[in-house]
Amino acid sequence: MNFRRSIIITGGAGFIGSHVVRLMVCKYPDYHIINVDKLTYAGNLANLKDIEDRPNYTFVKADICDFDLMMDLMKRHSVDGIIHLAAESHVDRSIKDPFTFARTNVMGTLSLLQAAKLYWESLPEKYEGKLFYHISTDEVYGALEMNRPEGVEPPFSTAASSSEHHLAYGDDFFYETTKYNPHSPYSASKASSDHFVRAFHDTYGLPSIVTNCSNNYGPYQFPEKLIPLFINNIRKRKPLPVYGKGENVRDWLFVEDHARAIDLIFHKGKVAETYNIGGFNEWKNIDLIKVMIKTVDRVLGNPEGSSLDLITYVTDRLGHDARYAIDSSKLQKELGWEPSLQFEEGIEKTVRWYLDNQEWMDNVTSGDYQKYYEEMYKA
Ligand code: NAD
Ligand code: DAU
Repeated sequence: MNFRRSIIITGGAGFIGSHVVRLMVCKYPDYHIINVDKLTYAGNLANLKDIEDRPNYTFVKADICDFDLMMDLMKRHSVDGIIHLAAESHVDRSIKDPFTFARTNVMGTLSLLQAAKLYWESLPEKYEGKLFYHISTDEVYGALEMNRPEGVEPPFSTAASSSEHHLAYGDDFFYETTKYNPHSPYSASKASSDHFVRAFHDTYGLPSIVTNCSNNYGPYQFPEKLIPLFINNIRKRKPLPVYGKGENVRDWLFVEDHARAIDLIFHKGKVAETYNIGGFNEWKNIDLIKVMIKTVDRVLGNPEGSSLDLITYVTDRLGHDARYAIDSSKLQKELGWEPSLQFEEGIEKTVRWYLDNQEWMDNVTSGDYQKYYEEMYKA
């Protein structure tokens, strides 16, 4: 079959990647979507069961660090675009094992960049019509003060640019102009990969875009992350381990809204630009946890508040970043993206999905995953 475009999506069997693969495969039947994933503990082909037989979808089990294989895939499929999501993504794991994060997130990104560069430079049209789109995180910007100052109320007007917001609001939000200041081995590895992508643009002219997104939530997230872990624990009446005092703030975005932003930026974004992605939706962990408890109890028919006793304050995460808050007005203003779901709707949808998909949850919480957690909490 002749396809109009041939796009590698790395990490497509993971949480966000599976939503991006599904969207692209279904929306663009004339694109060949090649999902390149190593299937680590976080990769799960069950996330893509509904689209695995589509004629425009190919899965390749591969490590992005394998440069020869990446080169071969680029040539074999005449790839003209890469959407790069493959990464080690969990902060707690990076604190235990930083080497794996440097290997995949830094060396893996470098291996893909070099394969894209060499393959695209070998073509008569060179970089024309090509794009390396790197998916990154807001954590590269570091941490904000725990409390937002009085009177600074997002969402901001999209009439002003994000650098004007930066001037007006100082360092109270993450802007595209905020200096990198990563604290965890995870965010340091992501920051390094972002720098490599920009260096390949500045040095060789490789067409690239970087986006930095806030915390995602929704179906198919591996239950080591706060929201799916806690939904599952509430259902099973297991303790909810709240780090520190539960006062840290995260800015939450429904995963399908992130996937829509990625599609839009891949097609309409400007080469060499950075876009922040987020829904102006900040929550203190403990407040978010109480919303989850209330929603799960209601959906399961438990008496209101009956799971509040599961809240268990535990030792804080090392170097725990106080607050993240993304200013995404550049993306809203220049490309017209906006989040489609209110948080209340998103969390209801998410809770119902995990409760309705118990088999998925049981599969990913068996075996090695459990052993890993036993080890971690022993320390
Ligand atoms: P995830 O951990 O759920 O999935 C990562 C995927 O990458 C898995 O399928 C895994 O098998 C694959 N992978 C890991 N190492 C690989 C390797 N060496 N070669 C090939 N595949 C490999 O991660 P996620 O939460 O879906 O995050 C995806 C991307 O988005 C990451 O780059 C992450 O930094 C970024 N991001 C995540 C969030 C979030 O809230 N989850 C927010 C902003 C940015
Ligand atoms: O901001 C984007 C980032 O969001 C992504 O780049 C990361 O890949 C993603 O994992 C996420 O990082 P966080 O560290 O913010 O997510 P996590 O779900 O691990 O934790 C969310 C908050 O909840 C954080 O403040 C730590 C806290 N927490 C987490 C867990 C797993 C707890 O209090 N208890 C827990 O058991």
